[in-house]
Amino acid sequence: MLAKVTSCALVGLEGVLIEVEVDNSSGFPSLVIVGLPDAAVKESSERVRTAIHNSGLHFPAKRRVTINLAPADIRKAGPAYDLPIAVGVLIATDQVWSHEAEDALFIGELSLDGSVRHVNGILPIAATAQAHGLKRLFVPAVDAPEAALIGDLEVIPVENLPQLAAHLQGLKAIPPYRPTETPLQTPPRYAADFAEIKGQEHVKRALEVAAAGGHNVLMVGPPGAGKTLLARSMPSILPEMTVEESLEVTKIYSIAGMLPAEMPLIRRRPFRAPHHTISHAGLVGGGSWPRPGEISLAHRGVLFLDEFPEFGTRTLESLRQPLEDGTVSIARATGTLTFPARFMLVAAMNPCPCGYYGDPVHECTCSLSAIQRYQKRISGPLMDRIDIHIEVPRVEYQKLTDDRLGEPSAAIRARVEQARARQTRRFAGTPLRTNADMGPAEIRQYCRLDEAGNNLVRAAMQQLQLSARAFHRILKLARTIADLDGSERIETHHLAEAIQYRPRRVV
Ligand SMILES: Nc1ncnc2c1ncn2[C@@H]1O[C@H](COP(=O)(O)OP(=O)(O)O)[C@@H](O)[C@H]1O
Ligand SMILES: [Mg+2]
Repeated sequence: MLAKVTSCALVGLEGVLIEVEVDNSSGFPSLVIVGLPDAAVKESSERVRTAIHNSGLHFPAKRRVTINLAPADIRKAGPAYDLPIAVGVLIATDQVWSHEAEDALFIGELSLDGSVRHVNGILPIAATAQAHGLKRLFVPAVDAPEAALIGDLEVIPVENLPQLAAHLQGLKAIPPYRPTETPLQTPPRYAADFAEIKGQEHVKRALEVAAAGGHNVLMVGPPGAGKTLLARSMPSILPEMTVEESLEVTKIYSIAGMLPAEMPLIRRRPFRAPHHTISHAGLVGGGSWPRPGEISLAHRGVLFLDEFPEFGTRTLESLRQPLEDGTVSIARATGTLTFPARFMLVAAMNPCPCGYYGDPVHECTCSLSAIQRYQKRISGPLMDRIDIHIEVPRVEYQKLTDDRLGEPSAAIRARVEQARARQTRRFAGTPLRTNADMGPAEIRQYCRLDEAGNNLVRAAMQQLQLSARAFHRILKLARTIADLDGSERIETHHLAEAIQYRPRRVV
């Protein structure tokens, strides 16, 4: 008899329905899996055989069993097909009834003793099931809260194979999983708060502008000035994620196997701070079975690159495309695969190799040429993607020991959210989200200057020898500063502030 059970494969974040066909016929006793399975899927047949046996069920030892995973051109990896294969075998041998498996998707790894274990990627799999109009999802019991994030699906939490067999035989139903609380009720907490950071008012202001307009930032300053602390506080002033954004981020962490068990839906904006020794694949994603890289784990959040010039040139250049598109494409033998990677880049660096160039207290020991070489490690085109450059000087002792708290992140975030709301209205019906996304056409449309503004920018361009790119950058920033000010018009003082955030070579 031929049994058909539905499962799911993931290509990047996209799910593809997989039909697991099990044929049980007379002939030379054998067990074969066909349909482009990787080694882990091949091992599945042994696990399934043993798990079925240890569950007090029957595996047809003297028959010819063929398992086909279709469509054949989709690469199937990992142990997640154990459960659908086992169910297929049980149906093909008349031990459970096929109608119970209709309209359902099965996913899960089997232990040899028949218990069902966690698999990665449950959330995108559940989304795929829903998109295809399936009604029921059989998942490892530990993964039920994650699967239940997708509404309108009946989630059946499976502890072990005997329990599932009893359910499919109609003997003892497994109650569907009911989430105990809606995960959206509690607002996210952030590790660091702007209130704790003393002084650095102009840096905080620049970071507020960056958050408001989605602009990338580079902080330059000596060691101990608080750059890392400021960067870590950045997610706390970004707008709260929408449910849609939360689901996007959660899918990525689900595939990477990085979802904390107690927190099925990620509410906190990601903050990723990879070390400069990170591999290319670690940063942008890849590997034989491609995993999302740090830039995708930072999706909708902050990618913090400390010691910016220490990252290899090739590594830094690989950021250019994702910074442009908000996605990263990974080339593979079987085709290209795409992961989302829309992050805010926050970079930090010392002004020179020793770190103290321009510091009033500490003497710099670097030669001029060493400083120039250090600063040139970041290419012009990459610098062009960073709208805001800020100097972060060391904080004086009195300020550091001052007990008074600064403005809390929540208050800053409220202003950022208002500025973002203006941008959402402005860009409604376009793919743009923030001012940082504007191209030359939008800049022309939304960043009109009056005569005073024109005069100011013209003078600045002449005196500071600014390029056309710098001109556009100034207009985009001025747009954001005006949005923070609640003003549709860009005023002269908005422009004046924007001009301060231009990049400076220190020497
Ligand atoms: N403005 C500040 N307010 C409060 N603490 C600060 C400030 N600047 C630095 N610190 C303290 O100094 C430590 C070092 O700062 P850090 O952010 O690592 O500096 P940097 O990254 O610029 O080298 C921080 O852990 C923090 O405790
Ligand atoms: Mg640091």
